[in-house]
Amino acid sequence: MDLTAYTVTNNACATAGGARFTGDIGVDHSKQILASATAFIWSIFQQTDPADRKNVHSVDLFIDVMDGVAYADNNEIHVSSNYIGNYTGDLEREFSGVLYREMTHIWQWDGQGDRWDRGYDVTARFLDYCNDLRNGFVAELDNKMRTGYSAQYFVDLLGKTVDELWTNYKAKYGT
Ligand SMILES: *[C@@H]1O[C@H](CO)[C@@H](O)[C@H](O)[C@H]1NC(C)=O
Repeated sequence: MDLTAYTVTNNACATAGGARFTGDIGVDHSKQILASATAFIWSIFQQTDPADRKNVHSVDLFIDVMDGVAYADNNEIHVSSNYIGNYTGDLEREFSGVLYREMTHIWQWDGQGDRWDRGYDVTARFLDYCNDLRNGFVAELDNKMRTGYSAQYFVDLLGKTVDELWTNYKAKYGT
């Protein structure tokens, strides 16, 4: 069960990007994406036991006027309103991908460990791999997870179980 609290703060309301965030994504949908991303990352690393997880009680998302795309810092995710404002593709899809990637950094152990020492960004790279197999995978997964997480979604979208995908990914990239 996910007891994590999710908060969303738009510090860029006065900018075009901040307004686009409110209009196209919004606070409620952002919270839903954050929860889906958390469920996804726990499942990838088979962190079914809360004792295996990092001790994070809340994840706080900020839309900030800043350069770049996004970064994670402790339990905070910061996304650039300039990036949102200038993005020309499917914003909802892109924004989901950004949150999934940054959420990886929140839950990934930084130090040495038996499962988490495979290198920075490992889940983000795995997501890229899944997305290469099926363009839009992250956004489709996110849509399906509105009603809760099921490992069957990987089979539905990619025709393989998450364990098979993870094995194939490791074989391909030698991790
Ligand atoms: C696009 O990004 C620039 C900064 O690189 C920013 O000044 C501008 O306001 C952004 N445009 C929109 C529509 O957000």
